Formats: sequence, structure tokens, C-alpha cells
Amino acid sequence: MKGKKVLLSGVKPTGRPHIGNYFGAMRQFVDLQREYTPYIFIADYHALTTVQNRIEMEEHTLGVALDYLAIGLDPTVTTLYKQSDVRLAAELAWVFECLTTMPYLMRAHAFKDAEAKNKEINVGVFNYPMLMAADILLFHADVVPVGQDQKQHIEITRDTAEKFNRIFGETFTLPQALSIGEVETVPGTDGRKMSKSYNNTIPLFAEGEELRSTVMGIVTDSKGEGEPKDPDSCTVFAIHKLVSEKDLPDLEQRYRTGGIGYKESKEILAENMEAYFRPMREYRKELAENIGEVYKILTEGAERARTVAEVTMQDVRQKIGVA
Ligand code: ADP
Ligand code: TRP
Repeated sequence: MKGKKVLLSGVKPTGRPHIGNYFGAMRQFVDLQREYTPYIFIADYHALTTVQNRIEMEEHTLGVALDYLAIGLDPTVTTLYKQSDVRLAAELAWVFECLTTMPYLMRAHAFKDAEAKNKEINVGVFNYPMLMAADILLFHADVVPVGQDQKQHIEITRDTAEKFNRIFGETFTLPQALSIGEVETVPGTDGRKMSKSYNNTIPLFAEGEELRSTVMGIVTDSKGEGEPKDPDSCTVFAIHKLVSEKDLPDLEQRYRTGGIGYKESKEILAENMEAYFRPMREYRKELAENIGEVYKILTEGAERARTVAEVTMQDVRQKIGVA
């Protein structure tokens, strides 16, 4: 009998995370890690569809590992690894590619978007959902916490599992997407959804002058210091809600009565953010000084992950007749 349910998710090493990623997604991994048997990995092979530069790949991969450890993923609880260390996923992806039709994959949003934009599409982009299905099914994951844009990939994973099970006999668990990133959309400095693609982010590990100037740059309406303000439509206040818990009632009252200007509100926000993320930032620096330890965590995670994945793959090889 299976004990805890298996949770699995991956993140591509493509850049610095922002507070929208943290509150919308990353934090949930930490909150859920003790409820499930969790696998969290760095999807470097998926990133290779766009990141084709050795230094960038290495730096961002290490960056994601540091970020996850810094926010509280406990490597004794969560199996943390690099996708490329579990090569069995590439093997399983090939098996799935042989069962899946071209017209089916041509319906994938990511492929259709790239096509609509007349982008040059590499085969990796086209096959992306097959490697993702392999990542997930190798571990018999029950739940996969992902944002809205990844839901279709989970549907494709389920279809692929069903198809394999139908042809070769009951083998794979059908995973479910666990909604994250929908609870609250964190607004960016320009008031739109915070996103790397809008250039309106507050990086999760920003500090000092970078943090301060980013916060001071948040766009507000032009109400003067003594005028009453609407906290519900203010971007600065929306971020206060995430990091200024103890000041919140006071801030709200001062907003409504015209007892605070946006400049002061932003100054308080910059200070509170500095304090809120300080323990994580400091822990991240400590980890960064001890990179050997981080690589060791990834190596051990990969070993654990491979042991589980190898069992699945042996079963698959038997069933398809190549064992
Ligand atoms: P970006 O839009 O910056 O490229 P991603 O698409 O890589 O971010 O998102 C990674 C995760 O973070 C997803 O689960 C997504 O739902 C979540 N996320 C991204 N931006 C926000 C935001 N502004 N508010 C809440 N969650 C977000
Ligand atoms: N495609 C996901 C993204 O772009 C990353 C990813 C790769 C993933 N394999 C996965 C997420 C398996 C969940 C499960 O964010």
C-alpha cells in the first residue's frame, strides 16, 4: 500500500524568480512538502529548448537550487534533483513519442503559439509535453502543482498514461494538476500581473538599493498626501497585504482617511519587504558560500530519484518487450 501521495513539480532554470512566483507558486511547495512525498526538480533539459548557453544554464540551475533551499524546501523531506541527472526520463519520453500522434501534439498551446508567431520551432519544443509526461509518470505522481499555463501539459500526461495503460496493461497513475498561482495574482510595479515578460518584477532576493528603487518605482494614481486613498485599487497596498501583516490595519485606516502619502507607504513597504525576506536572503548567501553542499544535495536527490525511476522503467521495458 502506498502511504502519502506523491507530489511532483519542476521549474525551468530561466531567470531570477520574483515575489509573484514566490507567493503564487514556490511557497506552496514548501507548505505542502510534509503532506506528500515530494519530488521537486530543476527542468534543465526543458530549458534547453531556449537556453542554449553553457554559463547561463549552469548559473540558473544553481540559482534555482539555492532559491528552493533558501525558501525552505527541506532536502531531507523533498527529493530535490536536476532533471538531466535522471536520464530515464529521456528514455521514457521516447517510448511515449512512439505512442503519440503528430496531430495530437500539434494541438498543444505552446506549439500553436510558437507557430502562430512564425517562430522557428525546434523538435524539443514540439516534443516538450512528452518529456514532461515522462518526468511525471516515472514517479507515479498523484498531484502536480502547476500554474494555469501548464494545465494542458497535465492533460496530455493523463492521455499518454491512459494510452500506455490501454496498450500495455495497467502501469501508470493518472496525475492531477493542483492549482497554484491562482489564489492571488501579485501585481507588478506597473499594476499589471507581475511577470518576467512584462519587466515589472520585484526580484525575490533583491535587497538594499535595488529593492528600494524598485519599490519606489511602483505606479500609483496621483492623489496627494492628505487625500483619502482606496487601498483596494492600490498596487503598493496589494503588496503590503503580503508582507506587512502587523501594519495592515493601521495602513488601511491611514489610506482611507488621507493620513498617508504614497511615498511614505512605499518606504514602509521597502522596509517590510527587506525584513520579510531577510532570513531567506541570509540563508541563501550562506548556502551560496557552500556550493559543494548544494551540489551534494542535488547528487543525493538524483540518486534517490533514479532508484524510484529505475523501478518504473524496468516495468515499462518488460511490458513493451525490450527487457
Ligand atoms: P513569469 O510570468 O514571470 O514568466 P512563470 O510563468 O514562470 O512566471 O510562473 C511560474 C509560477 O509562478 C507559475 O505557477 C505562476 O502561476 C506563478 N506566478 C507567476 N507570476 C505570478 C503572479 N504575478 N502572481 C501569482 N503567481 C504568479
Ligand atoms: N513545463 C514546466 C514549466 O514550464 C516545467 C516542467 C517540466 C514541469 N517538467 C515538469 C512541471 C513536470 C511539472 C511537472 O514551468
